[in-house]
Amino acid sequence: MTAPAAGISLHSKLPDVATTIFSVMSALANECGALNMSQGFPDYDGPDVLREALGRHVMAGGNQYAPMAGVLVLREQIAAKLQRYYGIEANPDTEITVVPGATEAIYCAITACIQPGDEAIVFDPCYDSYEPAITLSGGITRHIAMGEADFGIDWDEVKSTINERTRLIIINSPHNPSGAILRDSDLRRLEVLATQHNLYVVSDEVYEHLVFDGEQHCSVLQYPGLRERSFAAFSFGKTFHVTGWKTGYCVAPPVLTVELRKVHQFVAFVAVTPVQLALADFMMAEPNFPASLAEFYQAKRDLFCKRLVNSRFGVRPSPGTFFQLLDYSQISDEMDTELAVRYTRERGIASIPISLFYQVPPAGRHLRFCFAKREEVLLKGTEILCKI
Ligand SMILES: Cc1ncc(COP(=O)(O)O)c(C=O)c1O
Repeated sequence: MTAPAAGISLHSKLPDVATTIFSVMSALANECGALNMSQGFPDYDGPDVLREALGRHVMAGGNQYAPMAGVLVLREQIAAKLQRYYGIEANPDTEITVVPGATEAIYCAITACIQPGDEAIVFDPCYDSYEPAITLSGGITRHIAMGEADFGIDWDEVKSTINERTRLIIINSPHNPSGAILRDSDLRRLEVLATQHNLYVVSDEVYEHLVFDGEQHCSVLQYPGLRERSFAAFSFGKTFHVTGWKTGYCVAPPVLTVELRKVHQFVAFVAVTPVQLALADFMMAEPNFPASLAEFYQAKRDLFCKRLVNSRFGVRPSPGTFFQLLDYSQISDEMDTELAVRYTRERGIASIPISLFYQVPPAGRHLRFCFAKREEVLLKGTEILCKI
């Protein structure tokens, strides 16, 4: 291989971006042989039938490019799922696009909306893929911190942040990393603001089925004023325990979908064909599978939280997602970035420091743990944490 000529350098378009903390902590957990409760993926497999369907489609020749918007049978299954779970009509031809992961959909949606100088509002702690996409389009990211106590959104602050350059608001519910959810009253406030100021909305709903304690997920697609101006991103990886399949979909009205697809066709062009075919088969055969997830994950959350009741960590059980924040303010005043590394090396348990998802580091002291783990891992993890 030829090394780059001496003196060659590249003026970075993302000078402040480092390798994502999810990869960093997973690598450190592997290096130290620590229990990896950091990165958000299950340590169990997706359903056998789904995995068998993938093998079948690979062997049956489903191995060439899919249509750019996704294979039609899958888009039809997605439309049926939207109808079943939210009572929403979405046209598979003009409103549903299958993508290689929700991250790609979010990137394409942001790229489609943001012109140089436009502002986009995000809420901290903010999932780390949003701001780089805004920056690469020449946009400016306006950060609003969620409430320290409950990770709620102060809509009056949103109102006062909106100006004539504001083009986009990005929401994420259920929320990574806090586990908070947006409720009907939040979506109604957003609907009024977005309509009044003619804003687009990117709604990251990858944890849509992970909402606990009998509460329901509120999707932007259920609110007419939001439906007409939103890109909603979903992930099969989270719903079917197959994060490595990196397949998801974006639902947006036809005019927005046209622009999303213009970007998508030159970023990825398509998602993987046999994966799409397998997902379509599975969704047709098991339409109730997503409905089982709330109970499945709530049991894991409850096990994790109950076992920590007598620990020194502060625990407020998450209303959604497969993440649990633990408040360590009674234990240490170290920065979470240092503590997460130290616990991985010294205690053998890896977590995610959430201050990295803020523009201005928060006063609170929290580490994020992923409870999408087998029972024995949750037991081992809580045993370690109770000794701290
Ligand atoms: C909030 C949020 N959005 C998007 C994604 C990425 O989803 P996908 O793997 O489908 O790209 C994740 C994955 O962890 C996430 O937590």
